[in-house]
Order: sequence, then C-alpha cells, then structure tokens
Amino acid sequence: MITKTILGITVLFCLCLTPFAAAADPLEDSFDLRRRQMVEEQLKPRGIKDQRVLAAMLKVKRHLFVPPGLRYAAYDDRPLPIGEGQTISQPAVVALMTELMELKGTERVLEIGTGSGYQAAVLGELAKQVYTIEIVEPLAKRSAKLLQELNYRNIRVKTGDGFLGWPEFAPYDAIIVTCAPDKVPPPLLEQLAEGGRLVIPVGTFWQELKLVRKTRGKITESAIIPVRFVPMTRAK
Ligand SMILES: C[S@@+](CC[C@H](N)C(=O)[O-])C[C@H]1O[C@@H](n2cnc3c(N)ncnc32)[C@H](O)[C@@H]1O
Repeated sequence: MITKTILGITVLFCLCLTPFAAAADPLEDSFDLRRRQMVEEQLKPRGIKDQRVLAAMLKVKRHLFVPPGLRYAAYDDRPLPIGEGQTISQPAVVALMTELMELKGTERVLEIGTGSGYQAAVLGELAKQVYTIEIVEPLAKRSAKLLQELNYRNIRVKTGDGFLGWPEFAPYDAIIVTCAPDKVPPPLLEQLAEGGRLVIPVGTFWQELKLVRKTRGKITESAIIPVRFVPMTRAK
C-alpha cells in the first residue's frame, strides 16, 4: 500500500514534469529549421562539399551573432549589419572561405576581422586553436564575451591591427582575412606556416578572393571569385 502510494506520487510527479521538461522553444525550433535550409539551399547548391564545414555551419547558431532586432534575417542569403558600421558576411561566403582553409582539426589558425565572432565560432568547431583580431574595440569585446558564454575555449580574441598579424603565436596553418586590404599584408605571409593557406579578399571597391599557399617557402596565388568586403583599416 505504502509502496503503491509512493509509486503513485512518483508517477504523478513525472507526469507533471514531462510537459515542461520536453517543451521545445518554438523560436529555437524555427531557427534550427532555417539553419538546415541555409545549408541545403544556399551552401550545397553553391558547391560547398566539405562535410566538416557543412556540419559546423549547421551547428553554429548564427542568430546569436546578429543584433536581436535582425535575428529574423540571420539565415538569409546576405550579409547583415552588426553595428559600428561593420557587417557579418553572407553564409555562403563564410562557408567558401572556410572550405578553402582545408581544416582537419589539428590546426592553429588566425582570423583578421573578428566582427560578430561568427566566423571565429565556425573556425572554433573545425580547428584546434583560433586566434582572431578585431580593430574596433567594442566589437572585439562583445565577440570575446559571446564566445566565452558559448564556451569556445579554443578561441582567443584581441583588439588590434590585423595587418600586422599576431606574431606571438605564429606560424599559422591557415589564415583568413575578412576585411579587404589593397595588397596581401607581408606580415601575414611571414606568419603562414610551411604548407599553409591564406584566404583573403584583395582590392579596393570590388575585390578578388585569393587563395595563397606557401609551399617550400614559395608563395603561389590563385583567384577564386570576385567579392565585396569592408576595407581593412589601419591603426593610427
Ligand atoms: C566583414 S567584417 C567581419 C565579419 C566577421 N568575420 C564575422 O564573422 O562577423 C570585417 C571586420 O574586419 C574588421 N577590420 C577592418 N580592418 C581591420 C584590421 N586592420 N585589423 C583587424 N580587423 C579589421 C572590421 O572592423 C570588421 O569588423
């Protein structure tokens, strides 16, 4: 009798809790769906094939990296403003540049232009260690805080002029630049490891996305596609 009563209470307790424990957040569900659609309808048709890149793009919650008032558009096929006159790049461009870095999971990588921290989070899923530099201090601070809240322990953010790279942790197996200089910054070539890949938009108004490789000390460049990024600015 006592057992029955205890069991009865237990069952009742479970029944009461279940609807709350299992209740899904409809907004999060709709973002999950839109993220899947982004991968299927924007990334795969544009030729992104690296399964690790596709998985990272599916996992990282892009809506957390855009201003709250623009979350509804977080998975649209376009760049979005993130404040301070800067932007978060179009998802397909993030995926393409990431794929060009050929990451397997063991690499030390450098990003120039942290912005919202979204690209850094994608890299954090795919490389061993990520170093990222942002010249606009409020953006660097905001993304460092968000990446910490999201528990990315393999990402270090600093405020600074990325033209100079981050010599302290060089060499890097891969470097990605998400703002456009008018020429490839020599310090980034110096800080690229042997066999390394540098993905960078180069030019003024319209730029060429370039893949630069260092092989046995020799630099080779290939042009990928025309792109439009914010300019690389220099510290005064
Ligand atoms: C297109 S946004 C970056 C998008 C970013 N990767 C993201 O995922 O949100 C380019 C960023 O480069 C930054 N930037 C411009 N010149 C820079 C420099 N010399 N060093 C570091 N960051 C720079 C801008 O302030 C801007 O935040």
